[in-house]
Amino acid sequence: MKPIVIAIDGPAASGKGTLARRLAAAFNLPYLDTGLLYRVVARRVLDHGGNPADPAIATAQARGLGRLDLGRDDLRTPEVDLAASAVASIAAVRAALLDFQRNFAASSGAVLDGRDIGTIVFPQAAVKLFITASLDVRAQRRFAERQIQGHTATLDAVRADLAVRDEADRTRTAAPLRPADDAHVLDTSALDADHAFAAAAAWVNQALAKV
Ligand code: CDP
Ligand code: CDP
Repeated sequence: MKPIVIAIDGPAASGKGTLARRLAAAFNLPYLDTGLLYRVVARRVLDHGGNPADPAIATAQARGLGRLDLGRDDLRTPEVDLAASAVASIAAVRAALLDFQRNFAASSGAVLDGRDIGTIVFPQAAVKLFITASLDVRAQRRFAERQIQGHTATLDAVRADLAVRDEADRTRTAAPLRPADDAHVLDTSALDADHAFAAAAAWVNQALAKV
């Protein structure tokens, strides 16, 4: 397997992570969920009683990334969703996390998913995918996941949180969420995970034939 980078971006609960994991397994590449980096920085700021929108506090946590625990099990709560989006709008936080993401793919290539992988982190990625789905479909998916995890938020609350976070991620100045010019855009509103994988795998095979 050639050491290619597959960059997967898109709004919350569009199916990026599910697709990224399957592509990584199928093409034998390491996988990094870059949302976890922002989530762990946010979690640490909250643990210290800080404000996630405070650049000095959030940046100090991001610079300590090597010592942060990406395996924590308390990173997918509604509180951390919004705090992650807040720390992610700070340019110095993003800058502090860049080397970690680039080094991750340096030796064997990788699949990375996030918001700015195809635009900022790996603008030269061999394959760029932008995964979308309607707000209602994404809210339903996230609601189902959160119910399994035992959270009690209503579907309306989940939908409202996604809408707020998408808007913040799309309109921020630092690395806003948008498809790279050369990204394949895949709307999964009416696609199950198997069909999304099949479409994405075809694009990866096309790219592999060229490298
Ligand atoms: O899983 P979900 O799509 O809900 O979120 P995530 O990928 O874990 O990302 C959480 C937050 O981190 C997002 O709302 C973004 O604000 C931020 N993020 C980012 O700015 N850039 C990335 N590459 C990944 C995440
Ligand atoms: O990483 P991101 O937040 O974009 O979404 P995810 O956590 O991968 O997916 C959210 C949920 O949507 C998961 O429960 C998937 O099983 C489901 N799903 C999917 O990932 N892809 C589809 N085409 C349809 C559903």
